[in-house]
Amino acid sequence: MEKQELKHFGTKELRTFGRRHGKKLSNRKQWLMENLLPKITPKSDVYSTKPAILEIGFGNGEHLRDLAINNPDNIVIGAEPFANGVAALLSAITNESDNTLLNEYKNIRIYPDDVRILLHSPEFKSVKFSQIWVLHPDPWPKARHEKRRLLNHEFLNLLSAYLTQNGEIIIGTDHWEYYDWIIEQLKQTNLKIKSTTLDTIQTRYQLKNKAGTSNPKYLVLSND
Ligand SMILES: C[S@@+](CC[C@H](N)C(=O)[O-])C[C@H]1O[C@@H](n2cnc3c(N)ncnc32)[C@H](O)[C@@H]1O
Repeated sequence: MEKQELKHFGTKELRTFGRRHGKKLSNRKQWLMENLLPKITPKSDVYSTKPAILEIGFGNGEHLRDLAINNPDNIVIGAEPFANGVAALLSAITNESDNTLLNEYKNIRIYPDDVRILLHSPEFKSVKFSQIWVLHPDPWPKARHEKRRLLNHEFLNLLSAYLTQNGEIIIGTDHWEYYDWIIEQLKQTNLKIKSTTLDTIQTRYQLKNKAGTSNPKYLVLSND
């Protein structure tokens, strides 16, 4: 794992996620990955007329689907490098009979890779998000893995440049030590904590509650 580094950015960035692949995909999911996914990857020209929301590390995409339904006038982009998660989302947003996108999910775009590659790509520089969600980022609990945590100050500064005026970064984690670590990282950014209270959002990972804490903690951050 230590040797798995991303070299897309000119600088070396460590891998922040675990597996890329799980069990073999069903024929339907494999078809969706090959045929539908390329049609709904994010393209920056789409955002010139519509506001946009980003969810980073959507897992199987339950929360992303809620975002799409609750924000029909927004483009909702999800980034997730775990292929089985992407395939699960594709399966959930399409008709089983003919594999077409369900109407309520036509505003979803999927980036099936590390979000940092997307955010560092030149054509994305002018895109702004009103909300950026990061729910249960991989906690990397061992001290020697701490440098793999996604929400370090460099990445938070990168996200802050992508916010609209009054835009928000919404973070949730049940790993309280990571939560405190993020608050420390904020000191090296201009982001401000707007709120720490949010109704608990039920995601797949949150239900597993691997950290064994009584509830997730939230941070709503903004530039203003
Ligand atoms: C612990 S899981 C949580 C998944 C989901 N948000 C939930 O709450 O069920 C963290 C997810 O973040 C993804 N992830 C980690 N680093 C990422 C990155 N650099 N870009 C996009 N996704 C990432 C992982 O692949 C993993 O699916």
